[in-house]
Order: sequence, then C-alpha cells, then structure tokens
Amino acid sequence: MQESVLSLSHVVKQYGDFTAVNDISLNIPKGSIYGFLGPNGAGKTTTIRMILDIIKPTRGEITILGHSSALDVRTGIGYLPEEKGLYKKMKVWAIIQYFAMLKGMEKKAAKQRAWTVLEKYGLKDFAEAKVETLSKGLGQKVQVLSAVAHAPELVILDEPFSGLDPVNQGVLEELIRDMAAAGQTVIFSTHVMQHAERLCDQILLIAKGRKIFDGSVAQAKATIPRRILIETNSDISSLRDIDGIREILILAANPVTGNAGQLWQLQIQQQVNPQLILKTCFDKGIALSRFEFTEPSLHDVFVHLVGDDARERAAR
Ligand SMILES: Nc1ncnc2c1ncn2[C@@H]1O[C@H](COP(=O)(O)OP(=O)(O)OP(=O)(O)O)[C@@H](O)[C@H]1O
Ligand SMILES: [Mg+2]
Repeated sequence: MQESVLSLSHVVKQYGDFTAVNDISLNIPKGSIYGFLGPNGAGKTTTIRMILDIIKPTRGEITILGHSSALDVRTGIGYLPEEKGLYKKMKVWAIIQYFAMLKGMEKKAAKQRAWTVLEKYGLKDFAEAKVETLSKGLGQKVQVLSAVAHAPELVILDEPFSGLDPVNQGVLEELIRDMAAAGQTVIFSTHVMQHAERLCDQILLIAKGRKIFDGSVAQAKATIPRRILIETNSDISSLRDIDGIREILILAANPVTGNAGQLWQLQIQQQVNPQLILKTCFDKGIALSRFEFTEPSLHDVFVHLVGDDARERAAR
C-alpha cells in the first residue's frame, strides 16, 4: 500500500442539527495531486479546516503527516485559505520571504526562494511592488506562492483557481505539477472539473457533506456509461440486441449538419468495445454519416453521480 500523508476516518462535523460533513473517510497517498470536488456548500472547506485543526470534528479521527493535529507539523504544511488577502503595505518579495520564514526558513534562503518563485511563475516584474497595487488575481498568485515557498511536504489549497485568468490558471497548474514532481503532496478544492481532470491522480467527490466517490479519475469515469453518437438514415433497432447497450436515445430528427440523417445517442456499458458497435453497423448494412465515441468527462461523471445520489436519497 502507498504511504499516506493524510487520513480521515469517519469524520463528521455538525453545526447544531445541521451536518456539514457526514462520515468522510479518506487516505491521501504521498506525492499525489488530490482534488476535493463538489458543488457549493458540499463541505469542502469545512473538511479542509478540520484537516488543518482550525475547527474540531464532531466525531472521527484525522492523521496528518503522522500526527493527530496539523498544529504539531505546521512547517510541513502550506495552506491557502478560501478567504484570500495579504498584508497590503508589504512588497511582494518581502511578503513571500516573511511567510517562508514563518514556516521555518532562514532569512537569506527565504529571500532567495522568494525571488526564484517570482521569476519562475511570471511575477518578477511585480517583485518590488506593494501588494495593494496588485490586481486581485495577481494578489492571489502571490498568496499561493507565499503559502508554498517553504516547499512543504503537504500543500492544501482551498479554491486556488477562482479569480485567475486562463493564463494564470495554467501557471498555477504548472506550479502544482512542479510540486508533485518534487515529491510534495498537493490537495486542492474546486468546483471546476477541468482543472481536476487535467491535474488529479485522485479525487474526492463530495455533495451535501457525503462522500460520493473517491479514487482515480479513470475509476470515476468507469462508474458511468460511455456514449456513442450515430447519424444515419437506416433503421438502427438491431443495435439494441448488442449486450451492454443501456439506452438508445434519439437526439435530433433532422440534424442541421447538412447530412440528411437522424442523430442517435447510444449509452454503452464499460465492457462494450465501441469497435463492436461499428462492426455491427457494417454487418447490418447501417449506413453511417457520423460515428463518434466520447469518453465521459469528469463533468459528466459529477453530474451523473451527484444526480444518482440525490435521486436515491429522495427515493428512501
Ligand atoms: N460555522 C458554520 N455554522 C453553520 N453552518 C456552517 C458553518 N460553516 C459552514 N457551514 C455550512 O456547512 C456547509 C458546507 O460548507 P463549506 O463551506 O464546507 O462548503 P464548500 O464545499 O466549501 O462550498 P463552496 O464551494 O461554496 O466553497 C454549508 O451548508 C455551510 O452553510
Ligand atoms: Mg469552500
């Protein structure tokens, strides 16, 4: 088994009668990029705050870097909170140096490190600027660098991408990848699935405080049926005989593609090879003007799993 840097066991957080986090258990492997994904109000920030021992769980156990409280391993952790903001009067390089020193770095090394990260992640021109003169997004970038400049073993970023333009989102993705390549473990929360899809080795899907899924992105995708789009004028009812076809939906009777065909969507189970569908079309003389196989995106998985979970609970 992979060494885990953080584990949660049956963690619950209640506020009065309201359960914000409901029985979450997790193991986060060392060196992984781990995404906490879920809609607004899912319990991501509450979970992160419990991990950092900012708030106490109502029940359950947390082990972080081998300790029972994050406060015992402070210098090993880098944290970007959900509410962003930095001391405004300081210069950019000095604030990064300051946070690195707060987390145990020696003064000269911290200064060097501040200039190195500012240069590497595209902020060198702002190094001498005061924080108050920065735009919101650039200020946030500086805060991320302040949180991780001391090269902590475990990095926890709460919504690091929110408020960044596409270029700076890319820079942040690069920073996260660089840290993982250096053996650091990175946890980040988001409700934007694309970042998680590109970055994460593992994800936690959480909704209404409950864990809906945890595992790799590939495993998440394997939980839902895949889709094939077919455009044809032929009768496709014979495709229904193939094992593992869950559903055939008609998408458009007169697609505006210029081809005179009907557009169908087939939902197929994981074990079905799309080539078999294509072969069956040839064998049965179904003339195709379009055949398109798409892997589900993490967004599809999320909608599917969160939707299923809500329906199951409503039915109980
Ligand atoms: N101090 C508190 N008292 C009462 N309820 C709280 C408190 N803190 C959080 N909650 C509730 O717990 C739930 C989870 O909140 P949390 O901030 O963890 O969600 P989140 O997943 O981080 O959402 P977002 O994507 O909007 O940041 C919400 O319904 C929130 O209103
Ligand atoms: Mg949050």
